Amino acid sequence: MSAAPLDAAPAPVTAVWDRLSRKADLRAKAGLTRTAAVRSGAVDLAGNDYLGLSRHPGVLGAAAEALADHGLGAGGSRLVRGTTEVHEAFEADFARHTGTGTAVLYSSGYLANLGAVAALAAGPVLLDAHAHASLHDAVRLAGRRAATFAHNDLHDLERQLETLRPALVAVESVYSVLGDAAPLRDLHALTAAHGALLLVDEAHAIGTVGPHGSGGVAAAGLAGDPGIVVTATLSKALGAAGGVVAGPAALRRHLHDTGRTFIYDTAPPPAVIAGAAAALRIARGSDSARTELARRSALAAKLLDAPAPAAGVCSPPAGDARAATAWAARCAARGVAVGCFRPPSTPDHRSRLRITVNTRVPAADFAHALDTVLEARP
Ligand SMILES: Cc1ncc(COP(=O)(O)O)c(C=O)c1O
Repeated sequence: MSAAPLDAAPAPVTAVWDRLSRKADLRAKAGLTRTAAVRSGAVDLAGNDYLGLSRHPGVLGAAAEALADHGLGAGGSRLVRGTTEVHEAFEADFARHTGTGTAVLYSSGYLANLGAVAALAAGPVLLDAHAHASLHDAVRLAGRRAATFAHNDLHDLERQLETLRPALVAVESVYSVLGDAAPLRDLHALTAAHGALLLVDEAHAIGTVGPHGSGGVAAAGLAGDPGIVVTATLSKALGAAGGVVAGPAALRRHLHDTGRTFIYDTAPPPAVIAGAAAALRIARGSDSARTELARRSALAAKLLDAPAPAAGVCSPPAGDARAATAWAARCAARGVAVGCFRPPSTPDHRSRLRITVNTRVPAADFAHALDTVLEARP
């Protein structure tokens, strides 16, 4: 293509919208349109409110009290008026519960991952190929080289640890798309032997796995290990919003002094954190709900020919993106909300339905909704 002459009139500024519209049309043809539809009264097999705590009376009561005490927003960043005793109490309780030493709150799990990786990526970063988009983005934004190892593949990890010599390896304890677990003990043995820190994103494990819901790291007997940093979101089993980075005291101090997504972001609203704190307390005592979560996940996987889930995510393969979209739409038309994951949200470029368990959905409704999903399969 020849370059436009220097004295040619610039293209009208509105040409950008035509270009974006053409791209959107191409995505639509490939079944890749994304729609933020207003949620309906459908049975929820799509959200991440695994224990149904977002509407628990104890959670709502704690949030309402903090709302009255502190107002709607935090009113400033954490270092400028945004820190309340609610934030500090949550951090201390989260660190105690997960055995991580110390914790730092963020306004989302996405920002927590950006903050953790920026702080720890002193060199190249190695990511599990299925690690969440926020971890990939974090490495990019930290200006570090990102490499991936095949999902949960210890041989590939070892090979790349030897050649790449990364400072940091990042994984999820329960994978958000596939719903399977990381072999944390083996991963940790390898990263420790190669002098790399292991960052474990516990987004889908806090509240759902480990002793009293304390996560996959604790379940693996690795809580408090100085070679591990934990990140998490409060938006899944805790039913709230916000993120957290947890690890040794030196990490907390470093994040307070230098972490851009901590320093330059308004603190999460106190009422939301108060609700999350109540949710954490309730989740600790919810062993029977975790048993029910596991039972329902196993049932969904068996019925839909999906791999065995580690917690509350079941991922049946769905053919190509168009077939996945059609399957999800048929479920929605029959009153069941399911997740539909297509490239680029699926690291292996395969499309899937994503069925999640919310233990607050009555058991009979859940079973009926699963039958509906099966009937709706193209
Ligand atoms: C594994 C994982 N990490 C991080 C995030 C980001 O958390 P948040 O939604 O709180 O930004 C999510 C979910 O959205 C996730 O699934």
